[in-house]
Amino acid sequence: MRMIKTSSHLELSQKAAIFIAAQMIRNPQSVLGFATGSTPEDLYSELVTLSIGGIIDFSEITTFNLDEYYGLSNDHPQSYHYYMQEKLFQYVNIKQENIHIPDGSTSDAAKECERYEKLLRQAGGVDLQLLGIGRNGHIGFNEPADFFSGKTSLVDLTEDTLEANRRFFDANEEMPKQAISMGINTIMQAKSILLIASGADKKEALDKMANQPVTPQVPASVLQFHRHATVIYCE
Ligand code: PGA
Repeated sequence: MRMIKTSSHLELSQKAAIFIAAQMIRNPQSVLGFATGSTPEDLYSELVTLSIGGIIDFSEITTFNLDEYYGLSNDHPQSYHYYMQEKLFQYVNIKQENIHIPDGSTSDAAKECERYEKLLRQAGGVDLQLLGIGRNGHIGFNEPADFFSGKTSLVDLTEDTLEANRRFFDANEEMPKQAISMGINTIMQAKSILLIASGADKKEALDKMANQPVTPQVPASVLQFHRHATVIYCE
């Protein structure tokens, strides 16, 4: 795992955007795995700038998002469908049919998870997967557990994650307690991985991820076993 320390959130966002841009330039038909949350917001703005400047081209890019809340409509302002349109997709020339995000509005989650895995396989897998990390060490919505999860599945969110994400929802609004998330095995199939983390509240999780024994209690620690994992962070 290569750790790249940056001195600011801006530097982190720019370096991460260039990292993704390099992949897109190397292979204009790349399959990119995208993540949501507050950390990648500025990285997506940087990608928009590179796209408007003609440096990168999304016309042949395919994307797969890591996860989506279960029980939210796709146009709900807190859904990850909405987030991705808002932060990135509406500004770039990606084909809507090349965008893949788990459908959290479905009544048949198991079928949706199967469909998602099949789409991933058909696309030939993810070339570069972007990840954030939770304070509890989660990646995607793979929460600390007794074992590493496998494929895309319906998962329960932990109290820690619910608390961390509650700020995005209105005070009187019910927050989803479940999500559809790529599993650890699915994530590990990506040919390369870029994890970004910003701020002091991620320091402990980063330390456990990179410097302590691999354990499903810190799901991100599994990245120690990935051959091409890069971490860009600032404190
Ligand atoms: P954050 O979330 O970017 O909002 O901190 C990251 C995550 O939970 O994976």
